[in-house]
Amino acid sequence: NWTTTNVVEEQVALIREQVGDKRAICGLSGGVDSAVAAALVQKAIGSQLTCVYVDHGLMRKGETEQVEKDFVAATGAKLKVVDAEKRFLDALAGVSDPEEKRKIIGREFIRVFEQAQLEILQEEGPEVAFLVQGTLYPDVVESGGGTGTANIKSHHNVGGLPDDIEFQLVEPLRQLFKDEVRMVGQELGLPEEIVQRQPFPGPGLGIRIVGEVTKDRLDLLRDADAIAREELTAAGLDRDIWQCPVVLLADVRSVGVQGDGRTYGHPIVLRPVSSEDAMTADWSRLPYETLAKISTRITNEVADVNRVVLDVTSKPPGTIEWE
Ligand code: XMP
Repeated sequence: NWTTTNVVEEQVALIREQVGDKRAICGLSGGVDSAVAAALVQKAIGSQLTCVYVDHGLMRKGETEQVEKDFVAATGAKLKVVDAEKRFLDALAGVSDPEEKRKIIGREFIRVFEQAQLEILQEEGPEVAFLVQGTLYPDVVESGGGTGTANIKSHHNVGGLPDDIEFQLVEPLRQLFKDEVRMVGQELGLPEEIVQRQPFPGPGLGIRIVGEVTKDRLDLLRDADAIAREELTAAGLDRDIWQCPVVLLADVRSVGVQGDGRTYGHPIVLRPVSSEDAMTADWSRLPYETLAKISTRITNEVADVNRVVLDVTSKPPGTIEWE
């Protein structure tokens, strides 16, 4: 019979059998799947696991700290954090095209992660043979079911390693659906904020700034986004909405008035949606009260934002994200 306790026990045994006395690496994204996969593997093999978190500087407020502090506190996992904010921002400088941004962020991410893998290999030796991935059942079905290996090339960046390194994949969530993964995460004692986290795109806030991505704009968007999330949580709406992208229209300015003066600031877009699977979505009919609070707080508290607008487009024709 299916219980989270059984799933955890079964997976822990399987992971121990697969990994043996070798070592494993797990990339953490801040999302549910990688956190639960890592926590399961940590429970099974303890310090034989090293987690890697690439801080690309495009996360929302508090999310990096959540991984660095709360995840580590809950699991006791060994964590290597790579601060790559400058590298990502440099690579994104001058780029406004959404697909170009995605390409750059994806490319830099792989490079930074592979470099971290090589450093761990160099520190821990050739016993590092496994890579943990948070693949879920729907991903398995979609990709045709095979399990596999992952290759990286060492590019001679660090000495003493073979040119080609192969990792066996450990995928402890392969039989689970998303809601089951959340239950397993809860069973493993992960914080609520991680276990119940709504979907967030890999390229992060990089694709929620319409226009060029800069540190100042990211900080501004982080503040606005934190307010929206806080108010949605306070109103008890987290479970009703699928996700709520908060978007900065960095290349748009409009006239406003605040205090004794005219302002010429940016609009923030709220994009709350309801959905089952993100393939289609409808705009969420949020209470006016909540929308009013979010709007008032963002325009009062976030400098350079003088307007908050609500996206009332379904998907299709609109996508959930603006980029
Ligand atoms: P769209 O905007 O296509 O989004 O309606 C559907 C779902 O996918 C997420 N999304 C992404 N996730 N990398 C990701 O990991 C991406 O480049 C990306 N683009 C969109 C989006 O947040 C929504 O949940």
